[in-house]
Amino acid sequence: EKRNFAIAIDGPAAAGKSTVAKIVAKKLSFLYIDTGAMYRAITLKALKNGINVNNEDALLQLLMRTKIDFLQIDSEQKVLLDDIDVTEEIRSQEVTKQVSYVAKHPKVRKEMVARQREMARHKGVVMDGRDIGSQVLPDAEVKIFLVASVEERAKRRYEENKRRGIPSDMEELIKEIALRDRIDSEREASPLIKADGAIEIDTTSMTIQEVADRILNIAKKQL
Ligand code: CDP
Ligand code: CDP
Repeated sequence: EKRNFAIAIDGPAAAGKSTVAKIVAKKLSFLYIDTGAMYRAITLKALKNGINVNNEDALLQLLMRTKIDFLQIDSEQKVLLDDIDVTEEIRSQEVTKQVSYVAKHPKVRKEMVARQREMARHKGVVMDGRDIGSQVLPDAEVKIFLVASVEERAKRRYEENKRRGIPSDMEELIKEIALRDRIDSEREASPLIKADGAIEIDTTSMTIQEVADRILNIAKKQL
């Protein structure tokens, strides 16, 4: 097994990135890094501190005095914001609505990318997000671009919310996901795109295990 082997998984909201990335990381004993959780964490802190999501400099200042860590407990990964467990809180409606505005800012992204590269230094990693194959780890051994129809992605989120006891509305979910995809794809600073050399997998009619197996097979050829 090569040291520092990297698997980059990008794609639009609710395509299954984190679910599949976790399975792949576990199988290979790699570190899983959820970069979306980092943007969500700073968004949560900004909202709590009354900082406007359009104020790039204020957000950067806030980020510079913010610690974001991942804590692995058995097979569960916790997100710590200044040592507080915010794993659930960063998935709230309010954070989900605002996060793409925070993630638009080049200065915020630059700091996040530096932290993400640092985390990827010591061990094999599976990292998921929007700009991993294009910006964060452009020389990753494996680059995956996961897609699925917006209806299927909304359905997945709907089912997930139901399992968690959170009521949601399909039409609302479709709108929210489509809007976030649009902001993420149209922004100037490292937009969501399929990176050079990325393998696209349309997961619309695939199970989680099928997607994970496909990625593991691609990775094993390089390991
Ligand atoms: O899980 P979900 O697809 O809902 O989103 P996420 O991966 O948690 O990411 C939340 C948001 O963070 C995205 O909609 C992007 O605006 C931003 N993000 C980003 O800009 N770059 C990344 N590498 C990861 C997330
Ligand atoms: O990380 P990302 O936002 O791309 O998606 P996710 O949070 O991993 O997946 C969204 C939901 O879709 C989760 O509840 C997964 O269990 C589900 N899923 C699925 O039903 N079928 C797949 N092939 C992949 C994910």
